[in-house]
Amino acid sequence: MGRFILGILVGVVLVCGGAFIYFTSGMAPVAATAQPMPFERLLAKMALHNKLRSDAPKTVPIKPATGNLLAGAHVYVQDCAFCHGTPQAEGSVEGAGMFPHAPQLFTRRGMVTDDPPGFTFWKVKNGIRLTGMPSFEKALSDQQIWQVSMLLHEADKLPPSVAAALAPAPAPVPATPAAKPAPKHR
Ligand code: HEC
Repeated sequence: MGRFILGILVGVVLVCGGAFIYFTSGMAPVAATAQPMPFERLLAKMALHNKLRSDAPKTVPIKPATGNLLAGAHVYVQDCAFCHGTPQAEGSVEGAGMFPHAPQLFTRRGMVTDDPPGFTFWKVKNGIRLTGMPSFEKALSDQQIWQVSMLLHEADKLPPSVAAALAPAPAPVPATPAAKPAPKHR
């Protein structure tokens, strides 16, 4: 029994010591461009998934009607496209530079059409800790968050008017400054 307890103690000391050396020696990755730490992705995904299963709303208070999708597209272009890209754009370079990357939500790989809209609602409302995904609780109403969540849920079958509303606005043409009158010499 004594040996067994000693074994456990030695194991605990080795694991803690190893972790201490890993984090204090500069071996642990800190750059957004670095590779993930061992188990980092797995642990983060597991924690998020279990939180969503318990806390995400299970009933969806809005329908995927065109009006809601259009309102969602408006929110998306304003608040999300910078990181998550649009169907028309090649993909967000800034989103690709983050760790973890911001998934491109209108590409086949990045779509969240299989997620229940309540999961997306929870992520947008609360944000995802230690990632670039902000909480929009203070920036958007619950209604707007449902609308953008519904848009992402329907991302692979949007009516043409909604798809068109996702096109990034053309860059404003700078107004030519009026020619200044030449200074008068006295
Ligand atoms: C500043 C950049 C940024 C902005 C702005 C942003 N996001 Fe995110 N978002 C991220 C990042 C980074 C992740 C990846 C988090 C992760 O890997 O866990 C993410 C994750 C997500 C996910 C989860 C995707 C998945 O595959 O599970 C959804 C859904 C999402 N964002 C929706 C939105 C919506 C809707 C908006 C606008 C209201 C928005 N995001 C604005 C950076 C951003």
